[in-house]
Formats: sequence, structure tokens, C-alpha cells
Amino acid sequence: MSEPLKVLVTGAAGQIAYSLVISIAKGDVFGPDQPVHLVLLDIPMMKAVLDGVVMELMDCALPLLTEITALVEEAPAFKDIDVACLVGAMPRKEGMERKDLLAANVKIFKSQGKSLDTYAKKTVKVVVVGNPANTNAFIAKKYAPSIPAENFSCLTRLDQNRGQAQIASRLGVPNKNVSNVIIWGNHSSTQFPDVSQAKVTTSAGVKSVQKAVGDDDWLNNTFITTVQKRGAAVIAARKLSSAMSAAKAVCDHLRDWFMGTKEGTFTSMGIVSDGSYNIPAGLVYSFPLKIAKDGSYKIVQDIAISDFARQKMDATKKELEEERDMACSVCEG
Ligand SMILES: *[C@@H]1O[C@H](CO)[C@@H](O)[C@H](O)[C@H]1NC(C)=O
Ligand SMILES: *[C@@H]1O[C@H](CO)[C@@H](O)[C@H](O)[C@H]1NC(C)=O
Ligand SMILES: *[C@@H]1O[C@H](CO)[C@@H](O)[C@H](O)[C@H]1NC(C)=O
Ligand SMILES: *[C@@H]1O[C@H](CO)[C@@H](O)[C@H](O)[C@H]1NC(C)=O
Repeated sequence: MSEPLKVLVTGAAGQIAYSLVISIAKGDVFGPDQPVHLVLLDIPMMKAVLDGVVMELMDCALPLLTEITALVEEAPAFKDIDVACLVGAMPRKEGMERKDLLAANVKIFKSQGKSLDTYAKKTVKVVVVGNPANTNAFIAKKYAPSIPAENFSCLTRLDQNRGQAQIASRLGVPNKNVSNVIIWGNHSSTQFPDVSQAKVTTSAGVKSVQKAVGDDDWLNNTFITTVQKRGAAVIAARKLSSAMSAAKAVCDHLRDWFMGTKEGTFTSMGIVSDGSYNIPAGLVYSFPLKIAKDGSYKIVQDIAISDFARQKMDATKKELEEERDMACSVCEG
């Protein structure tokens, strides 16, 4: 057996973490031969709940979970970690101004960026889940200059999974028969779920999703808005935001990052742009990626971008640029 991976989960007393930590500890993410040391971080107010989560994890008697550390201080939590799942963020409260909410998150992710820089392994892989995820990842990276930009990511896999499931349901095929749905941009209602490269496997072979669905109007309108507004639909029904599906998406994101994507398929992650597709370098934007077995990734290039797609990709880009600029203006404070 290899050395345990040290995996930090922040917001560890929350809803998403409650589903996430058990999957990580069971081996669903890093495989059945990889032991893990879980580090759980939350704010002091949540200490009692966090202790309860630790008790339950202990009571699972899991073979791969070698150690559990629960903390309410940042510095020791980031020490020598291999993976950081940054789930905790400041939630929107009634009557809170957007700028104040953003400032509160900038403060959290600036501090965590510095802690990553100072205490984490330089090979750490970071996935930001707490919203605004793209901009929080941008801020964390900004304050962690010693860690390569490609080690920072934010979650858009939940959107990808939602898109994949909508297509599978429409076509009446299993989810696994649908691949290569792309998410471009921000994890928000301006994201662009793009099926131009998506494929479906049926008994008759592999087909493009566009041909198989045969209804561009549905794909261009209903499908896109359903995926964009799915988070809000879950909140309306559950009176709580997506948690189980978010946790499952974090697992998918990390598994693909550690194990690589399958031949011929790709996956979407918010990453630091290198300027591809006219998205300004440095902006954290969701792109389709091919990931190698060693965890290095490349943006899928040469996708033909229609005017329809360009317009949608630019709208979500503009939103992210504005948010980045606003975040930077409150950075030093
Ligand atoms: C993360 O950083 C290390 C070097 O510090 C590097 O080996 C690794 O490939 C990086 N990139 C990714 C995508 O994990
Ligand atoms: C980008 O998406 C995040 C996550 O949904 C959201 O919190 C943020 O407000 C969005 N940005 C803008 C400028 O709308
Ligand atoms: C799903 O894909 C498999 C091949 O991977 C195929 O045999 C099967 O017929 C497909 N299912 C449907 C409902 O088309
Ligand atoms: C509709 O979808 C097709 C295929 O995705 C795309 O090529 C086309 O530009 C779209 N048209 C409009 C008017 O939305």
C-alpha cells in the first residue's frame, strides 16, 4: 500500500462535505488501494457538528481511512496536504449586497491562498466548490504564487453531469452512454452547456447528440436553460442547495484529475485560462480538458465555435471579468 494521501475538506461540517467525506474515505475517488488521511476544517462555531462528523467517520470502520484530523484553525489544516477541496464559503444572506458578499469571500480565499502557499505541498491539487467558485479560485491562486496555476481548479462538473443526465433522459439511454457535454465559463446561470461535441452510444453505434436528438430548438433553448437553472430548481424544491449531487461531482472531478480521462472523452473544469478560445489568460473559466494518467491536462483545441456559441462564451466571460475586477478592488483591505 502507498503512503496515505492527505486530503483537506473545508466547510467540513456542512451539507456537501457530509456526502463528500464518506466517498473519499471509502476509496471512490483515489481508488481501492490508496489510503487517505482526511483533514476536516470548519469555523469555530461549527466545532461540535464537526466532532459529530468525526465520530460517524470513525464508526464507519473504513479500511482506507488511516487518520482523521478535525480543526478550526487554518494553518495546521493546510500543512503538507496533497489535495484541497475548498467547499466552505460565505453564503448569501438576506439583504446582503453583492459587493459585501464578494468581499467576505475574497477575505476567506485570500487567506486560504496564503496558507496553500506557505503550508501545502507544492504538488497540491486544489478544487474550489464554494461560490463564487471561479473567482474564489482566482483569488486563492493569486495569493499562492509558489504553486503552479494549473494546480488550481473550480467545480463545473456538477453542471456537466446535469447536462449529461438531461440528454440521456431525453434519448432514453443510460447516463454512461452520453459523453463530451462541455461546460464553458462561470458556474452560474450564464454558463454555456454545449452539446456540439457530445456523443451518444446506442446499439446502432456512436452518433452525435445533435443528430440523435434531432431538435435544435430544444437543444438551443430548453436544454441550456434547464442546466443553467438546475441549481435554483433544486433549492426551490429542497429549500437547501444541491449537496449530494455536488459532492458526487467533486468526486468525479478529482477522480478524472488523478486517473485521467478515457480515450476519446473529455471533461470540464474551471481552470486558469492560458488564452485559449479568446478567454483572457489568468481568468478562471471552465474549459473541456483531456487529462493524462499523470494528472497533467490540456484544453481540447480546435473545436469549431459557431456564432451562437461565441456569443454565449463571451457573455459568461464578461461576467467573470467583472467579478474578477470587483474582487481585485476589494483584495487589499
Ligand atoms: C501541480 O504541481 C506540480 C509541481 O509543483 C506538478 O508536478 C503537477 O503536474 C501540477 N499540475 C497538475 C495539473 O496537477
Ligand atoms: C458566477 O457564478 C457564481 C456561482 O454560481 C456566482 O456566485 C457568481 O455571482 C457568478 N458571477 C456573476 C458576476 O454573476
Ligand atoms: C448503451 O451503450 C452500449 C455500449 O456501450 C450499447 O450496447 C447499448 O445498446 C446502449 N444502450 C442504448 C439504450 O442504446
Ligand atoms: C442552434 O444549434 C445549432 C447546433 O447546436 C447551431 O449550429 C445553431 O447556430 C443554433 N442556432 C440558433 C439560431 O440558435
